[in-house]
Amino acid sequence: MGQEQSAEPFDQSIPPTKLLRRDLLAVAEYIKSGQCKKVVFMVGAGISTAAGIPDFRSPETGLYSNLARLDLPRPEAVFDISYFREDPRPFYALAQELWPGKFKPTLTHVFMRMFADRGLLLRCFTQNIDTLELAAGIPQDKIVFSHGSFAGQHCIDCKEEFDRTELEEHVKIGKPAFCACGGLVKPDITFFGEALPADFHNSLHLLDSADLAIVMGSSLSVYPFASLPQRIDETVPRVLMNMEKVGEIGTRRDDVVWLGECDDGIRELAEELGWWEEMEEVWKGLRGDVGLETPVALSEDTLEAEVTKLTDDVEKSLRVADEHTKWVVKGLDKEKTPSAAAVDVTQVETHAFPKAEPEKE
Ligand code: APR
Repeated sequence: MGQEQSAEPFDQSIPPTKLLRRDLLAVAEYIKSGQCKKVVFMVGAGISTAAGIPDFRSPETGLYSNLARLDLPRPEAVFDISYFREDPRPFYALAQELWPGKFKPTLTHVFMRMFADRGLLLRCFTQNIDTLELAAGIPQDKIVFSHGSFAGQHCIDCKEEFDRTELEEHVKIGKPAFCACGGLVKPDITFFGEALPADFHNSLHLLDSADLAIVMGSSLSVYPFASLPQRIDETVPRVLMNMEKVGEIGTRRDDVVWLGECDDGIRELAEELGWWEEMEEVWKGLRGDVGLETPVALSEDTLEAEVTKLTDDVEKSLRVADEHTKWVVKGLDKEKTPSAAAVDVTQVETHAFPKAEPEKE
């Protein structure tokens, strides 16, 4: 899993230049030194697993290994624009589970907000669609939603904006929404086969002025996002905080590789920076249960249970949709002929997702 490590690890016998050592303590010292004013974060689904949102590619708990049991052509099809046109139900079923508002920011989201509060955050490039960065209080103009998000919704054909409440109603019942032009509606999430938002391309130049890059919770397996760490200047310290080694971080003189749960890694940094108490208060406030014990990341089996439930719910809503289709087939049979003609279910499928006729004048 994750982008294969291609280049050679840097010779550890040669000391770093900007950092005193290749460890989190040295990164904290570098931040405290005042040399570091423009921090860039590059994050993926791994920073939201502690919130209960499964990532995509972790074995067992990842969404893709769990969606594999649904009869999709391949798990990623749920986020593929051509498959969505064919059958939007799997995505709508998943959207029901992932719809914003059900999950709270993690300590890692709050850690990034601490940089924004201190004017040290140049940008947070996120691949996540859960908008937990916004929920943590990071200003919108400091976030690049590289793979879009649930924040907006449009028709995939005429690109008309669609009413949010109406889409939410459709997602709640797992029924795909159609634009007046007849096109399918989806949230502004970048599907495989779609161009990344303009804001991603328009923000790339900022990487040239970063003085620290922190990569967290990503397998760095989807381009062009996966190429971001390499765009950081060779002399700038880069930190990988991830459960597994990914990308080519560790091949440069001032690279730091820290393997483990990101909530644990940022706690080490936050304590060194003297931010931990403040962070905990903010985190508890966001959860609305101030006074909660120091958060413990969701255990592996809790997460596993969450993902199984999520996939069961997706499967259930797909089954309901199939029952609906069979019911429509039966209804069509009655209308057509007393003897149940073999109805081409695909016709019913298109019938079940009719191109809505625009209102006649
Ligand atoms: N702490 C640190 N790392 C974690 C944690 C955690 N608590 N949980 C998971 N990870 C790591 C995993 O080991 C993995 O390397 O986070 C990474 C998650 O990788 P993916 O599941 O591939 O997620 P991501 O990199 O965000 O996927 C990129 O793929 O399907 C597309 O559009 C989708 O944006 C997504 C893109």
